Amino acid sequence: MTAIARIQDFKSHVGSTVKVQGWIHNKRSSGKLQFLILRDGTGFAQAVVSKAAVSEEAWTSLDKSGQETSVEVTGLVKEDKRAPGGFEMDVKDATVIQSTHEFPITPKEHGTAFLMENRHLWLRSEKQHAIIRIRHTVIKAFRDYLDEQGFTLVDTPIFTPAACEGTTTLFGVPYFDEGTAYLTQSGQLYNEANAAAHGRVYCFGPTFRAEKSKTRRHLTEFWMIEPEMAFAHLADAFEVAQNMICFAIQRVLATRRLELERLGRDLARLEKVRTPFPWVHYDDAIRIIREKGSKTEWGSDFGGTDETVLAESFDQPIIVHRFPSAIKAFYMEPDPQDPKYSLSADILAPEGYGEIVGGGERISDPDLLLKRLHDHGLPEEAFRWYIDLRKYGSMPHAGFGLGVERFVTWICGIDHLRETIAFPRMLYRIYP
Ligand code: 4AD
Ligand code: MG
Repeated sequence: MTAIARIQDFKSHVGSTVKVQGWIHNKRSSGKLQFLILRDGTGFAQAVVSKAAVSEEAWTSLDKSGQETSVEVTGLVKEDKRAPGGFEMDVKDATVIQSTHEFPITPKEHGTAFLMENRHLWLRSEKQHAIIRIRHTVIKAFRDYLDEQGFTLVDTPIFTPAACEGTTTLFGVPYFDEGTAYLTQSGQLYNEANAAAHGRVYCFGPTFRAEKSKTRRHLTEFWMIEPEMAFAHLADAFEVAQNMICFAIQRVLATRRLELERLGRDLARLEKVRTPFPWVHYDDAIRIIREKGSKTEWGSDFGGTDETVLAESFDQPIIVHRFPSAIKAFYMEPDPQDPKYSLSADILAPEGYGEIVGGGERISDPDLLLKRLHDHGLPEEAFRWYIDLRKYGSMPHAGFGLGVERFVTWICGIDHLRETIAFPRMLYRIYP
């Protein structure tokens, strides 16, 4: 029996005959030779079939089969610097599992609408494969980093009774006799309870925003990693954020170079990302964008273009801090120096990728929290438990949320975040 090998491990199989289970990604024939690009889920490799070297049956069944035919191919693994991935297979035998014809996505260019409609098949392309693998590595790196720093993963609920990030982007779902539950916008509030139990915690899961924005930066369902730290201030949380980001970039550079190259990513831009990230006060940020022609006034949030313009003034990700309290969520701790500002911050990625992290220090005083809930017109009853956290052993605490798709979009250097999740959910898209 020939051993089954994964294409990603071909390096360790050079000189051996192995079997690959996969699909014909592409095919070209010239008389007595067929050149297959095989993919097996772990990678892509060229396999050369010579009519003289295989059985009549193997030759004909491959010859008659189209793109995405499922196959088992046995052959000798050889090193070949010119081959994509650096290895090639000399085919000795092949079995077609299912012969496929007219796969809708051909190597020619297709429009985005068509590709999105066929997302279930588009995922098999080299570029999409590379992006999803990078996403996997990023998530693993974030978790490894936080685990090493003494954070405990504590899962937070998806069904929630109340808003975390404003009432305008809530998705309501009927919930038995309770009436309406809402899909979570952020695990933060529950993280705060978990931080009081475990000190340093994080949650990682899907979050939902009924965003009416049809931009390249918005999904209605996205994944967020959210660390929360007891006895910590704004600066402590963002120290963790910047280190976690750099750790993940280093991990991707070290282990996903092939994928980054397949995406045509300019590696130099990632290689130069370093801590400490510059801190830019909200007032300075407003001044910088206005000098560059923005009409955004002091007291407003930045638009997507503002973020791009601002980030272009720096060659590292930046930490914009102390947004006006009036434009931030109810839970933000006011700056003791000047309560007009909040102890909040965003990290903006370079190269026009915009906000990737949002976070801050949370109000620790129960009376102030109650007042802010009322100011924001939020139902006190739904937040009773949250106020309790300030009644029993309150402490300074801070945290942040990093949007996985925004981050991966930047790392991959691609235009739209819809390609960074297998099945994106957007304003006008819920199929497939
Ligand atoms: O800035 P946001 O709204 O912050 C929070 O939700 C905090 N409660 C997090 C915390 O402190 N624990 O969202 C955090 C991040 C953004 O910086 C962005 O990366 C991502 O979540 N994000 C989105 N990603 C994709 N599509 C959307 N519609 C997003 N909205 C936010
Ligand atoms: Mg934000």
